[in-house]
Amino acid sequence: MLKVKLNKLIDEEIINSYQHKVVAINDMIKNKTGLGNDFLGWVDWPINYDRDEIKAILEDAKYVRENFEVLVVCGIGGSYLGARSAIEALNGLKNNDKLEIIFMGQTFSPNYTAQVLSYLKDKKFAINVISKSGTTTETSVAFRLLKQLLENAVGKKEARKAIFATTSKTSGALRKLSDIEGYKTYVLPDDIGGRYSVFTAVGLFPLACANIDIEAMLLGASKAREFIQDAPLKVNECYQYAVMRDYMYRHNKPVEMYVTYEPQMSQISEWLKQLFGESEGKNHLGLFPASATFSTDLHSLGQYVQDGTPLLFETIINVINPNQDVEVPNVLDDLDGLNYLAGKNLAFINQKAFEGTLKAHEEGGVPCNVIYIEKLDAHVLGYLYYFFMRACAMSAYLLEINPFDQPGVEIYKKNMFQLLGKKIH
Ligand code: PA5
Repeated sequence: MLKVKLNKLIDEEIINSYQHKVVAINDMIKNKTGLGNDFLGWVDWPINYDRDEIKAILEDAKYVRENFEVLVVCGIGGSYLGARSAIEALNGLKNNDKLEIIFMGQTFSPNYTAQVLSYLKDKKFAINVISKSGTTTETSVAFRLLKQLLENAVGKKEARKAIFATTSKTSGALRKLSDIEGYKTYVLPDDIGGRYSVFTAVGLFPLACANIDIEAMLLGASKAREFIQDAPLKVNECYQYAVMRDYMYRHNKPVEMYVTYEPQMSQISEWLKQLFGESEGKNHLGLFPASATFSTDLHSLGQYVQDGTPLLFETIINVINPNQDVEVPNVLDDLDGLNYLAGKNLAFINQKAFEGTLKAHEEGGVPCNVIYIEKLDAHVLGYLYYFFMRACAMSAYLLEINPFDQPGVEIYKKNMFQLLGKKIH
């Protein structure tokens, strides 16, 4: 499904030296005995998921696709990035799907919020509000605004049929509000944290609404699970990737830069930054996850990567065959001097840009890892997300960090609430 080529500093001897630790940590993940073990529900989710819930998701998605022009997905962090990254990666940035998906609730930006609300005024829209805690301020404020707009447009009764909430089964303000209003709800299980939730309704309901094959995605994830947890380290690319990360971190490369050559995959980099940053950045430890989209960013960050402070290594996700392609035309006058490319496809040119850059950066002393993907579809994406989630748990445990909490995030909230005058009970 994937082919991982680790950077040239990593050899068999290094991988073997991690053998005992990796086996012990894999057992800890499997048997749920490590730090934060009450948040390991995602590990077996690709085989344990609720089949009836999938059926309901598919039915509701059909209803949304048949009855609305726009679905507004309202959430932040782990309650947003999985869905957005998968929808963009698979459907593209300028698609003609009959249902438009818009994201809100991930920012307090008055400009963005006003623009979306104004855009929705003449549209038939549904809302999927997603919050496990039900109290995240960005999401709650956006949902209050969206709910009011919808109710004013179609009335409370019709609005109820257009609102889908994904939240905790039993607790939180969104659960309470949904029960009182009678909204259709989906559940994010207690033992799955936001950034590990892409295979639950948090990711799958918006994905199904975007006409993405969610069953293929779950199958891809289950294949990854089966392979990763049983394959020995010498062939286990996921855990080898985690070992490489640990080795780089301990050898003066504190920054991992995720690279894609597809702008529609740049939200996957955002998802990766959140997954690794929020899971690992604790106790003054952890790699700093950065990202770039090449070749665009070769004209900005490229200079730094090639010649700047040697603090980073790259992990490139390289999709060999894009779903669409464009040929460079031949023109008689050749005034722009591009006829040497006539008849060539952009996929070919993009691959040459990748190969040329890889060589340049390696020669410049930047360790580069490449994850090769033949073609991106829902099945492969399911595999890829699970691969990274499992690699992230392994990486964090190698640093003896709990991968499933985020205590540092609370500090900005505390200050903000104080400044906003929120009463804390
Ligand atoms: O990964 C996480 O746990 C976080 O990023 C959360 O998903 C994010 O803070 C949103 O939380 P909630 O779903 O409770 O609104």
